[in-house]
This record gives sequence, C-alpha cells and structure tokens, in this order.
Amino acid sequence: MTTIIALTNQKGGVGKTTTSSALAAGLSTFYDQKVLAIDLDPQGSLGFSLGLDIENSSTIYDVLKGTVSIQDAIQTTDYCDIITSNILLSSAELEFTSAEREFCLKRALTPVLDNYDFIVIDTPPALNILTINAYAVANHLIIPMAPEILSLLGLTQLKETIDSVREKLNPSLNVLGLILTKYNKRTLLAREVKEMAENIASQIGSCVFDTQIRTSVSVAEAPAHGLSVYDHAPRSNPSLDYKDFVEEVIDKTGHSIAGRIQ
Ligand SMILES: Nc1ncnc2c1ncn2[C@@H]1O[C@H](COP(=O)(O)OP(=O)(O)OP(=O)(O)O)[C@@H](O)[C@H]1O
Ligand SMILES: [Mg+2]
Repeated sequence: MTTIIALTNQKGGVGKTTTSSALAAGLSTFYDQKVLAIDLDPQGSLGFSLGLDIENSSTIYDVLKGTVSIQDAIQTTDYCDIITSNILLSSAELEFTSAEREFCLKRALTPVLDNYDFIVIDTPPALNILTINAYAVANHLIIPMAPEILSLLGLTQLKETIDSVREKLNPSLNVLGLILTKYNKRTLLAREVKEMAENIASQIGSCVFDTQIRTSVSVAEAPAHGLSVYDHAPRSNPSLDYKDFVEEVIDKTGHSIAGRIQ
C-alpha cells in the first residue's frame, strides 16, 4: 500500500521543503523505496532544489487543471520521481471552483498510486485549497518547526483545519509528528525548546520526533547544486540527522521495509 505524507506548517521558512526533499531522497536512497515527490507550493522550490527546470515543464498545476495527464507531468531524477510546480499554481484558489475541489489531487493521483511505496507532498506556507488538497489525500502529516519561530501562534488554526478535514474529508488523517529543524544546541536551551514543542504536539494529539535537524549551511547550499543533502554534504549534521529522521518515519508509519541498504 502507498503511504502518503504531507509536510505542512502555514508558517514560512520552517524547513518544509528541505525536509520534503530529504525525506523523499532518503526513502529512495537508503531504503530503495519507490517515491513520488509532489510540489504543491507555487514557489516551486522542491523541484528546483532537486535540479529540475520548473519553468519549461509540465507541473502539478497542469495536472490539477486536467490539461496534462499525471504520467506526463512526472519527471525522473536520480533520487525519485517528481511533479514540479511553479508560480502558475498560485491561481488555484480562484480557478479550482468545482464541487469537490478539495479532492482534485486525490483524483489526479489515483492512476499512479500503485506505482509508489511513498508519496511525499510539500505544501505552501498557507492553509488554503492547495494545503487542503494535500490533507484530503494524505495518510500522515509531518509538521516541521524551527525553534526561532516556534510558537503557539497559528496552532489553533492548524488544529481547527486538521479537525475539520478529519470530519469532512479524510477521517483517518494522522499527524505523524512534529520535527524540529534548524536546531542549535549551543544557542538555545535545548530542553526548553523540546518541551515547548512537546506541548504543541500534544495539543494536536501528536508527538515530537526524537531526531532534531541541526543547523548547517550545507542545507542551504545543497539546492543550488540540485543535490540532496546526503550527496552534497554526507558528513554534515543535517545529513546524519535526516537519515535518522527517515528511519523514524518508517518506524512510525509501520511501512514494512526489508531494511537499510546503505
Ligand atoms: N537544518 C538547517 N540548517 C540551516 N538552514 C536550513 C536548515 N533547514 C532549512 N534551512 C534553510 O532555511 C530556509 C527555509 O527552509 P525551507 O525552504 O525548507 O522552509 P519552508 O518551510 O519550505 O519555507 P516556505 O514556507 O517558504 O516554503 C532555506 O533557506 C533553507 O536552506
Ligand atoms: Mg517550502
């Protein structure tokens, strides 16, 4: 069965795209899983960060509009298959007005679902129709949070959105956990931050991943090379941390996997 995971947080710059990319690349590189990564953010960073041309290719916008088949929008990379996005997707809110517009992505994915072990969806920093489409099709949400912008602000809105999606669109939507990114033990009282995150997580009926992703400039550099963090800086802290995170994701989703290959 395919496990669908969406990375979400309406706050900007908390590590959604970085974590989506590391999760997708990690599942395929270390566990030989067939992975499709989908960029649902009009900023288009996910495809770009894994080395793809996002301006001259078919995107998720074309798929959701029904002008391109999903098979034709899938691009293959060394890491995983990807459906890119670009700024055109920002008109989705106005353009997708049909009944059941929350299920556009779910309907679009049906023909290729069986081809993948995991589908990883990167979402925009918003709670809009794109985010709702991701929530409506996902089995699990993962919420990245950066300690410097860690706060309870926005949590009520996120919780209400998740509750409403569970009620109306996707009863089995699970919040797999909250992952602390850009973590720096030296500048922050680590225990305090972890406690605060646990408090936030418990309010949405979830928990905090044991792994924290430490800060390193290597993470910011990797996208410019179109490489995953594992290839760009294999010995960097984030590379090691993301490896552990991917293992935790596999354990928590209960996805049966033969074992680590690297
Ligand atoms: N562990 C890390 N160490 C250092 N920099 C990081 C780390 N994780 C992410 N960053 C940097 O922080 C910035 C924001 O990260 P990212 O784009 O993944 O966040 P986002 O939540 O997807 O943002 P947006 O909401 O705009 O989509 C990027 O410049 C990225 O390189
Ligand atoms: Mg992003």
